[in-house]
Amino acid sequence: MSSDIKSRIEQLREELNRHTYLYYVAATPEIGDEQFDFLLKELESLEKENPEFDDPLSPTRRVGGEPVKGFVTVNHPKPMLSLANTYSQAEIEDFDKRVRDSLGDKPFQYHCELKFDGVAVRLEYENGRLKLAATRGDGVSGDDITENVKTIRNVPLTLSGQKFPEKFEVRGEILMPLEAFRKLNESQTEAGDKTFANPRNTTSGTLKLQDSKIVAKRNLQFFAYYFESETENLNTHSANLDFISSLGFPVYSARKVCNSLAEVEKFISEWEEKRESLPFEIDGVVIKVDQINLQEELGFTSKVPRWAIARKFAARQASTLLKEIILQVGRTGAVTPVAVLEPVFLAGSTISRATLHNEDEIRRKKLAPGLFVLIEKGGDVIPKVVSVDESKSKPSDSPWKMPDTCPECESTLVKEGEDAVYRCANPDCPPQIRGRIEHFASRDALNIEGLGESVVDLLVSSGLVHDVDDLFSLTTEQLASLERMGEKSASNLVNSISAAKEQPFSKVLFALGIRHVGANGAKVLARNLKTISAIQNATQEELTRINEIGETTAASIVSWFGNEYNCNIINRLTHAGLQFEDFSSTETVAGSPFTGKTVVFTGTLETMKRDEAETLIEKLGGKSSGSVSKKTHFVVTGADAGSKAAKASELGVPILTEAQFREMILPYV
Ligand code: IVH
Repeated sequence: MSSDIKSRIEQLREELNRHTYLYYVAATPEIGDEQFDFLLKELESLEKENPEFDDPLSPTRRVGGEPVKGFVTVNHPKPMLSLANTYSQAEIEDFDKRVRDSLGDKPFQYHCELKFDGVAVRLEYENGRLKLAATRGDGVSGDDITENVKTIRNVPLTLSGQKFPEKFEVRGEILMPLEAFRKLNESQTEAGDKTFANPRNTTSGTLKLQDSKIVAKRNLQFFAYYFESETENLNTHSANLDFISSLGFPVYSARKVCNSLAEVEKFISEWEEKRESLPFEIDGVVIKVDQINLQEELGFTSKVPRWAIARKFAARQASTLLKEIILQVGRTGAVTPVAVLEPVFLAGSTISRATLHNEDEIRRKKLAPGLFVLIEKGGDVIPKVVSVDESKSKPSDSPWKMPDTCPECESTLVKEGEDAVYRCANPDCPPQIRGRIEHFASRDALNIEGLGESVVDLLVSSGLVHDVDDLFSLTTEQLASLERMGEKSASNLVNSISAAKEQPFSKVLFALGIRHVGANGAKVLARNLKTISAIQNATQEELTRINEIGETTAASIVSWFGNEYNCNIINRLTHAGLQFEDFSSTETVAGSPFTGKTVVFTGTLETMKRDEAETLIEKLGGKSSGSVSKKTHFVVTGADAGSKAAKASELGVPILTEAQFREMILPYV
């Protein structure tokens, strides 16, 4: 039996690794997310039940593990060198000349590839298993970041199938794709947190996190650009990359063996043009002599290889006039200085505003209205001011100062502790009101159709709405009397506001806009504490004890409910009829065949999703479990049921087909 379980575990691991490869490396998935999760859940429960078969490189470990206290320093067996780099084509010609002079008339080729703008990493494999992942550090030694790198989905954890050397090393770059960066900043904004400046720094910061569970959620990616092994000696760099690609490592397809400098130049100009279309950032192209024996012959200077050079792309910068520094107040009261610029075209769009982050940043860069500045586009759509354009202006000697009062409502601004952000603490401040209402009505919150930015503006400026609770007493007549609002849209809006009363508690909780409580956090709180008063009365310690609720979020919740203004809003929203209780699993039906029983689902159910079936069992007063034991009362089998069904019959646990299960629940649903 135990060998059956072991082989099922091994089979699942291999299967999950294959699907991870197909999805994240080959981009040719064979199954959907649900099927993947299904297999993963089976593996998780088998591993939990059979800890003797544990493996730290199991696909179940991709979600991250326990936080670490710090990183161990590791020495690199060979230094991790950087590259000589240049922005000029003439210097590429010089490089080519130097290479040709050194090699005499030996024939060689160049390999051109992208210069990924991320963080260099070295991966050691032994017997087909990831043994170590280390950062470059100072080139001689770096940090052991294996736990964090294990969460990166396109890094193979274990190899199978093809033949591979017993020991080898792969080097490459870890980066954050633009889409992942955009989403991360979106959720930062949603939670009222500071946004990240660019994907590279975010990648570097993420890899330094001591909690790999957070790293796992950041969707980092790896691209391999180097292979070395004592036993597998291929003749060219391109063959090395082909080889590791065949082992399952992600090697980006944009690469080319070039027979002449003209071909190299073509590759460079092609990718300088196409860089905008890539899903991640590159900062140039790397040109390497392809023949390994000739690389060895050329050797290294003290710092860089003589056989490679990076041709960097000019940053996407522009120079323009900083006309004015204005202040923007967000929904959480954070006051952000924004540069108003003379409009200028840069990398595909016209830019007239750029964030200046905070007072410290402006002072450090010696910015002031009237100066010419250099602006740059990072991975984000939001451009930033890099520095004063010293070819046109002199940096300002008088430090810019944040005003003492809010530009919108004139109440005194406050700065909390180490926080570089100033906040307006007046909840009646108009942009905060507008921000709160927009958030309240947004898609992931109460999804109130017809309540976009311009309507919110209209409602607040007309004085009809002072805060979110006022929405529920609006009448069609009141709305129809507003400018640009017809009878029909007025009545539609009243209806869609009223429909918000049907939204579940978790959405209402998210809609309140408590700092650090995102859509998922709200779900977790609603599921665990069930009612608004339970959340309101919970202490910070009690909140932190909930899985997925951290210190910062807990503190923010306590402080939010400590504010009388917020408590009044809750009272009025309760009065208006919004849901402040989670009914999702509390309403149980008594006297069903599943009351007090434990049920295990296995295989793919055809007529319902696994989590629907599990919720149903809870509603019927039962419990669902991931693993079969003597305490299991029923096992329900779908298509392709595996070891759980076998275990059930061995233990004599009744097995139900999906049809039999449906028949039994029918009278109760
Ligand atoms: S090769 C001995 N190839 O650029 C040569 N590096 O400025 C090792 N980088 O530290 C580097 N893309 O982080 C190489 N295709 C590529 C690269 C690349 C990005 C980074 C790497 C390195 C830095 C040097």
